[in-house]
Amino acid sequence: MSSRHDVGWDRIYHHPENLPWELGQPRNVLMKLVESRRLVPGKTLDVCCGVGTNTVYLAKNGFEVSTLDISDEAIRFAKEKAANADVEIGFLVGDFVNLPFRSELFDFVFDFGCFHHVQLNERASFIKGVQTVLKPNGTYLLVCFSYMNGEAWNYFTKEEIVKLFEGSFTIEKIKHVSSIEGDGIKRYFYEVLMVRLK
Ligand SMILES: C[S@@+](CC[C@H](N)C(=O)[O-])C[C@H]1O[C@@H](n2cnc3c(N)ncnc32)[C@H](O)[C@@H]1O
Repeated sequence: MSSRHDVGWDRIYHHPENLPWELGQPRNVLMKLVESRRLVPGKTLDVCCGVGTNTVYLAKNGFEVSTLDISDEAIRFAKEKAANADVEIGFLVGDFVNLPFRSELFDFVFDFGCFHHVQLNERASFIKGVQTVLKPNGTYLLVCFSYMNGEAWNYFTKEEIVKLFEGSFTIEKIKHVSSIEGDGIKRYFYEVLMVRLK
């Protein structure tokens, strides 16, 4: 398991008002793809739900959503959000490096801020896991940190992303974006829309 103890996610979620990645509204890239109908309701996995803002948005828009997170606290907040919105979501506390779902179950996998937390030695397993649970031609939307945030093991260049994913996915679109995050700091991301190879 990658990061429960070394990062202390549960401790972080004890102060949910200060989460840098929580904007209090769904991510624009996700909403645009839903509004344009590039993403249509189907079986969906939100790889790490955090407090569930994107997860609940998808469920409210007719997606049949399962999700997991390593943090019980995050799952507790996300469940509360789902109950308030009156939507059904399949919640699990679990590790995204060992996805507990059957092969080819999902039409769509959403990943905001999960992949860039995967340890180097677990990257291949994570990518294989996402590929395995997606149906052939299923869509994977990855949003991960860009090199523009500085130099770090988990800040990617476009070339690195292409190299990591091109063996398992066709990259439909890759876009470099910036966003003012929940803590008021501007961060840079790659939004990568991919389709699973058959
Ligand atoms: C940057 S946050 C993003 C959360 C969510 N996707 C969002 O947009 O709000 C990263 C999340 O990954 C979760 N996480 C970290 N390591 C994990 C692991 N090994 N398995 C599952 N979730 C993990 C953390 O608890 C945290 O909720």
